[in-house]
Amino acid sequence: MMNKNYTIKEYTAVMDERLKKAFPGEKDIVTEAMSYSLEAGGKRIRPVLTLEFCRLCGGDITEALPLAEAVEMVHTYSLIHDDLPCMDDDDMRRGRPSCHKQFGEAYALLAGDGLLTYAFYNIADSEFAKKNPSAAVKAVKILSECAGKDGMIGGQTIDLLSENKSISEEELRHMDALKTGMLIKAAALLGCVAAGADEDKMKAAEEFCDNLGLAFQVVDDILDVEGDESLFGKPVGSDAQSGKSTYVTLMGLEKAKQLAAALTSNAVNALIPFGEQAAFLKELALSLLTRKN
Ligand code: IPE
Ligand code: IPE
Ligand code: MG
Ligand code: MG
Ligand code: MG
Repeated sequence: MMNKNYTIKEYTAVMDERLKKAFPGEKDIVTEAMSYSLEAGGKRIRPVLTLEFCRLCGGDITEALPLAEAVEMVHTYSLIHDDLPCMDDDDMRRGRPSCHKQFGEAYALLAGDGLLTYAFYNIADSEFAKKNPSAAVKAVKILSECAGKDGMIGGQTIDLLSENKSISEEELRHMDALKTGMLIKAAALLGCVAAGADEDKMKAAEEFCDNLGLAFQVVDDILDVEGDESLFGKPVGSDAQSGKSTYVTLMGLEKAKQLAAALTSNAVNALIPFGEQAAFLKELALSLLTRKN
């Protein structure tokens, strides 16, 4: 694949096509459930970040494809588990019944486990890992740290502990930086790793993602209040129903919208070191501010 500039549609189409073929051959019920959730669509923001950061840092996006798939697998697993009755108890995801509604709780649990495990296999088994084992180990380290107890899982834990409680803005920021920001950061950093980017570029990518990740969760919280369910693809009002602490409960809709805009503008400023080449990421960040799904 040549390293030309891609549109978000092109990136998404490449990812959708590859994810469809992620588990070839005959499928048992758990593999069916894994594919069901993985192929259900979704915006593919994280793999797009992996591919675009790879391109931006001068890499060949073919190298980044298995890493991008791995991030989307970890993300999809997190959504399957997030929807379970013991977590947010949501019946719709990506415009269709949640995994546990379709396959039952036990198989949804296993489908999540299966996707999480396969993500790391996908990296280890790739041509990229064969050619560049130390970079592959670095990718595994970043992804596991960002998804684990000091990353996304840590954030999900705070999310549960904060139900039906009032928490400070600082605590909320910390929760969201972990539960949503860390995987977004992993996505970008894996693109940098695929390209062999230097520390300065990785730092700029982190700064961009810290702001984009928070903005992304603030917008998600806003859409949970005033979104259109048929576009959002998941239940509106879920946070209120489970007594979640969100930016909207903390500061109200208007202030939350202002915060999302300010964070997005910080994210855009963090792209300055990349120059004109960062036009795609700038546009992506701005489009996420007005997203409907
Ligand atoms: C949903 O993520 C979970 C959050 C971190 C808010 P996305 O909004 O990226 O979900 P999909 O992948 O498009 O379904
Ligand atoms: C998502 O937070 C964080 C995850 C790690 C899945 P939410 O619970 O707000 O995500 P949605 O709204 O269900 O997608
Ligand atoms: Mg949740
Ligand atoms: Mg949820
Ligand atoms: Mg939400």
